Amino acid sequence: MKKKTLTQYLVEQQRSAQAISSELRLLIEVVARACKSISHAVGKGALGGVLGALESENVQGEVQKKLDVLSNEILLEANEWGGHLAAMASEEMETLHAIPNRYPKGEYLLLFDPLDGSSNIDVNVSIGTIFSVLKAPHGLGQEIVENDFLQPGTAQVAAGYAVYGPQTMLVLTIGQGAVGFTLDREMGSWVMTQEKYEIPEDTKEFAINMSNMRHWAPPMKHYIDDCLAGKTGPLGKDYNMRWIASMVADVHRVLTRGGIFMYPWDSREPSKPGKLRLMYEANPMSFLVEQAGGVSITGTQRIMEVQPEKLHQRVSVILGSKNEVERVAKYHAEQGWEATP
Ligand code: AHG
Ligand code: MN
Ligand code: MN
Repeated sequence: MKKKTLTQYLVEQQRSAQAISSELRLLIEVVARACKSISHAVGKGALGGVLGALESENVQGEVQKKLDVLSNEILLEANEWGGHLAAMASEEMETLHAIPNRYPKGEYLLLFDPLDGSSNIDVNVSIGTIFSVLKAPHGLGQEIVENDFLQPGTAQVAAGYAVYGPQTMLVLTIGQGAVGFTLDREMGSWVMTQEKYEIPEDTKEFAINMSNMRHWAPPMKHYIDDCLAGKTGPLGKDYNMRWIASMVADVHRVLTRGGIFMYPWDSREPSKPGKLRLMYEANPMSFLVEQAGGVSITGTQRIMEVQPEKLHQRVSVILGSKNEVERVAKYHAEQGWEATP
């Protein structure tokens, strides 16, 4: 049987399941198209002159890579004129991006991490784009302010990521499971290759940047110590470790074969509980992981229930296979750890 494309999937979801509006369908199609352009730029690498850093820093004080800025521009340009958005926000921009007055406005808010895994760009390792869609809390016509974006992850109407790896894939949820599409480069279309991701409940594979161990909270350190103790330790199994340092690629592995991914709270900067950003990274990934039967927490709280206070807020992230994430929650609860998020 002929494989389904992203367009077919979305039209079906709009028509029969009525899971999405036509505006949301258009929005997702446009984001997917922008990801195709980013994938093309990524694939060219040095030939396209897209590697390397710029002189600039983003609002979070991180040096911007050429591809961070290029991907941001591609997403902004693609989404400005379609009439489906009220405003956008990005990891690479200080504040929200209003839709220019010359274009019609819609009811959705789009948030993105245009290029995730920046440290891997120049070394030809998988990177990605992460996005999240919310509804504007009030009707059209009213000006959108930053506060309108500060909705918990449970309010997301869609989320997804593109991973630019050996294959370019798009993994999407509209609240009806997590679905995977592979980019057919010759045809230029997204073809469904995974109808439903299901994260195994148990795992022996953890992903964490071990070099930060000395900064972690006691329950986190305790848990990893127990993992490292292996079969004869308290957890009774030998663990394996993976750390790609692109959240997109690490989470893609978790969705595909299970595992636990952690970027936990650490003591380096008290104003930043963790490294990852709630609105552009943690919430969309949590939505996908939960839709695939996994769990996603800060250590003490479900990430999607965290009430955001700032657009660029950081959060502790522990997500993946249900039983393993719940085990980590137990370590936090038993040790009365309250500093997260
Ligand atoms: P970004 O490139 O968007 O700034 O995100 C990088 C993030 C995430 O993708 C990854 O899991 C983590 O940073 C890696 O951090 P370390 O370099 O501290 O391991
Ligand atoms: Mn990122
Ligand atoms: Mn980024």
